[in-house]
Amino acid sequence: MKLTVILCFVVLGFLTSIMGATEDGLMYDYYKRTTCPHVEIIIAKMMRDFVRQDFRVAPRIIRMHFHDCFVRGCDGSVLLNSTAENKAEKDARPNTSLKGYDVIDRIKDTLEDICPNTVSCADILAYAARESVQLTGKFPRYLVQGGRKDGRISRDIEVSRNIPPSSFNVSSLILNFASKGLSLEEMVTLSGIHSIGVSSCFSVGKRYSNFNNTGNPDPTLDSDLADSLRRQCDNGTTASKTVIMDTITPNVLDNKYYVGLLQNKGLFTSDATLLTDRQTLREVTSNANQARAWEMKFVDAMVKMGEIEVLIGEQGEVRKKCSIVN
Ligand code: HEM
Ligand SMILES: *[C@@H]1O[C@H](CO)[C@@H](O)[C@H](O)[C@H]1NC(C)=O
Ligand SMILES: *[C@@H]1O[C@H](CO)[C@@H](O)[C@H](O)[C@H]1NC(C)=O
Ligand SMILES: *[C@@H]1O[C@H](CO)[C@@H](O)[C@H](O)[C@H]1NC(C)=O
Ligand SMILES: *[C@@H]1O[C@H](CO)[C@@H](O)[C@H](O)[C@H]1NC(C)=O
Repeated sequence: MKLTVILCFVVLGFLTSIMGATEDGLMYDYYKRTTCPHVEIIIAKMMRDFVRQDFRVAPRIIRMHFHDCFVRGCDGSVLLNSTAENKAEKDARPNTSLKGYDVIDRIKDTLEDICPNTVSCADILAYAARESVQLTGKFPRYLVQGGRKDGRISRDIEVSRNIPPSSFNVSSLILNFASKGLSLEEMVTLSGIHSIGVSSCFSVGKRYSNFNNTGNPDPTLDSDLADSLRRQCDNGTTASKTVIMDTITPNVLDNKYYVGLLQNKGLFTSDATLLTDRQTLREVTSNANQARAWEMKFVDAMVKMGEIEVLIGEQGEVRKKCSIVN
């Protein structure tokens, strides 16, 4: 008797999950079920144009998606402006220097014209990040689910508690990713994104000259790279100066990040530290040697990252403008 009741509930739960799915869950081709079937195609086309005009858009959007997902889940909280009462993630100190908000706003405006109140900002960011990966790497086309809703909360203090800084060691990185449901392997796999894009000299710190206040460069940093970073960053010009992260193939999303890392050319402590642990070193070495295998793992890990703590159904809203709540 008891078993039958339990079974009924299981079956009932299963049925409602299928029937309610159109409204309330993440799913593939989510917007094809709505009045706005061409969302993914429109975003793909717009991103192609943006990245053609300015390559930097691609890494910026991928990083923005990462910061969105690691703080309160992928809920578009990274896109919200501060208000008189609340300081938002955008304005967190130390300054996270995210860029590319204008790209998301322009995509949102276009989609609002075609089909108002339908496409969430969190989904726009997730799809735009997917396109950025496709445009900069040689990956097979991969599928990203839609249906994320936008959150209404964004707090500056939550950034430093959730986004790992470039000074993190391997054990702290493993813990940080584990707290988001991502494994050690996925942490190393995703670090390969530092195969494209740039960093401010600020984030590099003084690894190239005065590591840990020793007066010397970090001994685990390649000395030619240290010299080059010193020339680029210590020349007395503005603090907003940037350096390339993967000097082998700076504009291609490939496994050369790992090849450089094994030559002590990882830019951050958080990169170099992946060589100091037996398990992460094994991942780095295998990713350096097996481009295809890394690409498959990377795509899977990106998809998983894009599903961290998402809001679905009534848990969130579809913002009218990505920088303010409705
Ligand atoms: C493993 C932990 C990570 C740390 C410590 C880290 C840290 C950083 C730092 C400090 C920068 C430079 C920011 C600046 O300009 O000052 C950066 C850049 C970047 N990060 Fe990460 N990151 C990590 C993981 C990730 C992940 C998982 C992604 C996305 C999947 C990502 C995507 C990027 C991209 C694309 C850039 C270049 C941005 C640009 O060119 O504008 N990072 N990261
Ligand atoms: C959000 O802030 C940006 C930069 O300050 C500004 O350009 C934009 O208009 C703001 N969004 C809204 C809806 O006010
Ligand atoms: C990593 O950093 C944490 C926090 O600063 C520290 O407690 C830990 O001992 C460090 N681990 C290693 C292996 O250095
Ligand atoms: C940095 O310096 C402190 C104090 O000299 C030392 O205890 C620590 O181990 C050093 N950290 C690294 C990563 O070398
Ligand atoms: C953030 O950093 C950029 C580049 O260094 C700088 O131009 C900007 O003024 C900073 N913003 C804040 C709020 O500190």
